Amino acid sequence: MNYQGKWALVTGASAGIGEAFADALAAKGANLVLTARREDRLNRLAANLAAKTGVRAIAIAADLADPRAPEAIGLAVAAAGARVDILINNAGYGLPGRFEQSDWSAHRAFIEVMVTSCARLICDFLPGMQERGFGRIINVASLAGLIPGSAGHTMYGASKAFLISFSQSLAAENSGTGVHVSALCPGFTYSEFHDVNKTRELVSRLPNFMFMKAEPVVLGALAAVERRHVVYVPGLFNKSVAFLMNALPRPVAAAAVASQSRRVRLATSG
Ligand SMILES: NC(=O)c1ccc[n+]([C@@H]2O[C@H](COP(=O)([O-])OP(=O)(O)OC[C@H]3O[C@@H](n4cnc5c(N)ncnc54)[C@H](OP(=O)(O)O)[C@@H]3O)[C@@H](O)[C@H]2O)c1
Repeated sequence: MNYQGKWALVTGASAGIGEAFADALAAKGANLVLTARREDRLNRLAANLAAKTGVRAIAIAADLADPRAPEAIGLAVAAAGARVDILINNAGYGLPGRFEQSDWSAHRAFIEVMVTSCARLICDFLPGMQERGFGRIINVASLAGLIPGSAGHTMYGASKAFLISFSQSLAAENSGTGVHVSALCPGFTYSEFHDVNKTRELVSRLPNFMFMKAEPVVLGALAAVERRHVVYVPGLFNKSVAFLMNALPRPVAAAAVASQSRRVRLATSG
């Protein structure tokens, strides 16, 4: 797909999967609106991609934990004479520990970033896509949203399950409108994610075949949304896990996830 002249908004563009989306979209000719909290990184990325590919690239620093952020992003997009044809809801992080180990302000911020801001940005930009008869929305969920919940990182899987189900409903509602919606469900992906949630040392003991680089994850997702593939799991290993979790009786799948979570998720509590 050639995105020449289209505008793409990528949240969480300052690192990892979001930065890879920015790269791939610029290479396909899309103009960029890049957002995250670290403005220096966004400015550098916007300047580099504009110089490399000739697209227009705008950086908007925003903290999506602030409920006013999506509206501010919308105003900044309009002020720059841009629009949003492609929305990549990607910003995210993990909150380690058991539920009661974080206070409500941490949980509220988590829900705002992982769930509310995604829905709000779609609410604000979907009507324009429908009017123009073209739109692409990729909600970056996770394999964690496709498997049973487990102890530790309590709301992470729930927030991703929300994005998957929400994407399925939006895709059904927008069938035939020119707006395609996908949920991207990566497994372990090289990025800053495990440094931010302080699981780097632990996950570095996992075998390499369990990890993917961000670039193939993103290229697969961009191809999937064009094919109207609504729930996209990148990579053979992740696909096998998703298939198994779906095929196994629910209690067996839950027991397998619980044993893994004791080793990885709860080990990072506190
Ligand atoms: N890496 C994995 O193994 C993996 C697996 C499955 C799913 N995912 C999902 O993939 C998405 C991207 O993660 P990643 O792996 O690329 O992690 P990453 O390298 O840590 O990047 C996360 C991005 O989210 C932004 N972000 C975090 N909190 C934010 C906030 N309050 N407001 C605005 N932006 C915020 C960060 O920017 P600033 O810090 O500059 O704000 C950064 O650009 C997430 O939704 C994650 O849940 C990752």
